[in-house]
Amino acid sequence: MPNHLIIEGPERGVLRITLHRPEALNALNTALLGELAETLTGAQDDNQVRAVVITGSQRAFAAGADIKEMAERDLVGILEDPRQRHWATIARFNKPIVAAVNGFCLGGGCELAMHADILIAGEDARFGQPEINLGIMPGAGGTQRLVRAVGKALATQMVLTGEPISARRALEAGLISEITQPELTLERAVAVAETIATKAPLAVRLAREALHKAEDTDLATGLRFERHAFTLLAGTRDREEGIRAFQEKRPATFSGH
Ligand code: CAA
Repeated sequence: MPNHLIIEGPERGVLRITLHRPEALNALNTALLGELAETLTGAQDDNQVRAVVITGSQRAFAAGADIKEMAERDLVGILEDPRQRHWATIARFNKPIVAAVNGFCLGGGCELAMHADILIAGEDARFGQPEINLGIMPGAGGTQRLVRAVGKALATQMVLTGEPISARRALEAGLISEITQPELTLERAVAVAETIATKAPLAVRLAREALHKAEDTDLATGLRFERHAFTLLAGTRDREEGIRAFQEKRPATFSGH
């Protein structure tokens, strides 16, 4: 049983994971990160889970890596840090993640949110990479994913000044896809995840892979991948069902085959 997470579901195809270290604004210590990686590994093999929502509290999604824990690690400790393994597991997770973000979303917290496929934030959310204030820099993808998410200009300003941006700015820059009232963020994220959970799982999986490809390949390679994935889906029963349901004017029921 995880100590730093609250796990609910899966319900209607959605597993809900709440980061729960209220005493430290959900700072991501190694234990929490390990529990998250383990939970996602279980969710990957669970056919009942079609999408995951990750959230924190109203005050903080997560205020970064746990600075107290980090202070105890020297260079060799950082080099051999098991956290890298946990981050890699989270990054490899093959189902959609929707992040519901309220309050502080800083450092490793922002990096975790950027592992999500879709970010929905309350209007009070603050996104930032404040590591520079500690004499360090982002180390869990912050420099790479932020540039891709918000562009080089804003990412550079955020990383080099350490100053956070508002949810409104994050929306304009493309880091998040929707803003909500803070008390409705989770509800909205769950609704989005539930919508995804009704779709054909193989189509979701391949579409998601193709979208990921767009971030790290040239256009020609990405287009080739998209075409292969599109062709592959022609062999699925869910494609037959989706098209037949449209023709019969009824909702489709997808099986994952
Ligand atoms: N690690 C450990 N503890 C943290 C923490 C963190 N990242 N952030 C907050 N806390 C703890 C505080 O120490 C405090 O605990 P105590 O009451 O025991 O002192 C508690 O959470 C509440 O925090 P504050 O009293 O500071 O709350 P505040 O409202 O005054 O300030 C804040 C909120 C601006 C987010 C401030 O807590 C803060 O600046 N936190 C650190 C943010 C940060 O620098 N994150 C980056 C970490 S490094 C990193 O993330 C690197 C990486 O992944 C590779």
